[in-house]
Amino acid sequence: MTETKKILVTGGAGFIGSHLIRLLVQEYPHYQIVNLDKLTYAGNLANLSDVEERSNYTFVKGCITDATYIDQLYADIKFDGVIQLAAESHV
Ligand SMILES: NC(=O)c1ccc[n+]([C@@H]2O[C@H](COP(=O)([O-])OP(=O)(O)OC[C@H]3O[C@@H](n4cnc5c(N)ncnc54)[C@H](O)[C@@H]3O)[C@@H](O)[C@H]2O)c1
Repeated sequence: MTETKKILVTGGAGFIGSHLIRLLVQEYPHYQIVNLDKLTYAGNLANLSDVEERSNYTFVKGCITDATYIDQLYADIKFDGVIQLAAESHV
C-alpha cells in the first residue's frame, strides 16, 4: 500500500530544489509536492518545465518571511513534511 504525503519544498525553483522536486514528483506519484518560491534572481520555473503539468505538482509564488501567507498555506494544506531550500544563496 502506498502512503500519500503532502510535502512542501521551499525554494523549489532554484538549483537544488528543482532537482529535488523533479525526483519527488517522478518517483513518488502518490505524493503531493508543493513548490513555494519567491522567484528571485535565482529562481527559474523553466527548471521544472518538464514536470509542471504533473497532477502531483503545484507551484505557489510566495515568500517564506510572509507569516500571514505561510499561516494560510498551512491552514489550506496539512503538510506532512517541509524541505527548506529557499535562500539568498548568491551573496
Ligand atoms: N548549491 C550548492 O552547492 C549548495 C551547497 C550547500 C548548501 N546549499 C544550500 O542549499 C540551499 C539551496 O541552494 P541552491 O543552490 O538551490 O540555491 P538557489 O539560489 O539556486 O535557489 C534558492 C531559491 O530560493 C528562492 N527564494 C529566495 N528567497 C526566498 C524567499 N524569501 N521565499 C521563497 N523563496 C525564496 C529563490 O527564488 C530560488 O529559487 C541554500 O540554503 C544553499 O545555501 C547549496
